[in-house]
Amino acid sequence: MKTIYDQTKLKGNKVFEPFELAGITFPNRIIRSATYEGMGDENGKPTDQLLKKYEALAKGGVGGIITGFIGVSQQGRSSGFHMSMLDKAENVEAYKKLTKRMHEMGTPIIAQLNHCGGQTKEESTHMPVVAPSKISDYKAKEITKAEILEVIEAFVQGIKNAKEAGFDGVQIHVAHGYLLSEFVSPRMNRRKDEWGGSTENRFRIVKLIFEKARKEVGDYPILVKLNGYETLKNGMTIEESIKIAKLLEQVGCDGIEVSNGTEKAGLATIRGQVPWKILIAQNKKLNKMPEFMKNFVGIVVKKTLPQPQPKNLFNLEAAMSIKKAVNIPVILVGGITKLEEIEDVIKDKIDAVSMCRPFIIESDLVNKFKTGKQTQSKCIQCNFCIIGTLRGPFRCYYGKLPVSKS
Ligand SMILES: Cc1cc2nc3c(=O)[nH]c(=O)nc-3n(C[C@H](O)[C@H](O)[C@H](O)COP(=O)(O)O)c2cc1C
Repeated sequence: MKTIYDQTKLKGNKVFEPFELAGITFPNRIIRSATYEGMGDENGKPTDQLLKKYEALAKGGVGGIITGFIGVSQQGRSSGFHMSMLDKAENVEAYKKLTKRMHEMGTPIIAQLNHCGGQTKEESTHMPVVAPSKISDYKAKEITKAEILEVIEAFVQGIKNAKEAGFDGVQIHVAHGYLLSEFVSPRMNRRKDEWGGSTENRFRIVKLIFEKARKEVGDYPILVKLNGYETLKNGMTIEESIKIAKLLEQVGCDGIEVSNGTEKAGLATIRGQVPWKILIAQNKKLNKMPEFMKNFVGIVVKKTLPQPQPKNLFNLEAAMSIKKAVNIPVILVGGITKLEEIEDVIKDKIDAVSMCRPFIIESDLVNKFKTGKQTQSKCIQCNFCIIGTLRGPFRCYYGKLPVSKS
């Protein structure tokens, strides 16, 4: 039986002490935020390469691991490299090795489940790309009511598969412009039927996933990653995300990680440098251009790609506002690079922090923080890593392009 979440436990939070969130005991409050790994095999099963990455993170002291997003349906597959999938029962067994190993190492592991919605490509899914509404942010057809019901079933099946595979919980992706965040966003959902319009209607798909999943998996931890705001016109505001957070609490969500951004919003989710060099290098046509032309294209990309500010702690205000409005745990992600910042945020009663890029460059960052060896991440926010996952497994580039072998 899950214990009722007790806000008073937050008093005197300590970053490096074990704590409970969503019924899971975490060894500390610094969690690895979902990071697309591109390390699935041709069937979306986890490879040994992925296991090694997770072992390094666990050994390096992370409080818990949220996996890179795992697909719940072929139509929602990403256009990134070698996505992991939990859409079919036959994939479940392969994940058991991974979850078992993490448990041996004392590291909770949460499966992030996703449907990419309008932010994928037909070449990757071999199916029509779908989104709540046909809008210019992406090339997608309006999803039908029958297809919405299929998406709900796919998420419920994904949650059941994750539980069976031994994950400590799941995180439903309702952020970054993927299908469920498209539904809750007033910018991306322009529907006039019962799936659009009011906040409650836009939230309906998420509500039904929770209701159906709860019947199947009981009180198994189900968290959500939510856009606390969107930087684009008519996008999610903090006020709107507070309403969504309250609805999430009502339907039995176990915790909310607060983020922001969509593909159209450029660097809103990650901030930092514009990774134009790798964008050009990975584009066959552009890469053939002479150097001076590449530099020119780089200037154009820098000028046209939205680069919202600030670069640090950019979801803090939204997370604090949501934290005040709900009685479930809140995790803050986005531009956290220093131990000092983490201590402040935790003192401010955010339950835990999560980081992505700092763990790509240093999987042992938590141990370095804990032992006082280092107080700041070495990440330079070059953002080559995010573009890199379109063509290969994730890794740190540290602002340098791989030397071509030809
Ligand atoms: C290479 C890369 C892959 C990412 N993959 C995911 C993902 O699979 N799911 C997700 O919710 N966010 C993903 N993100 C976003 C991060 O989880 C995080 O929200 C964002 O990077 C801001 O945190 P940071 O400043 O600690 O990097 C990814 C970011 C990067 C750079």
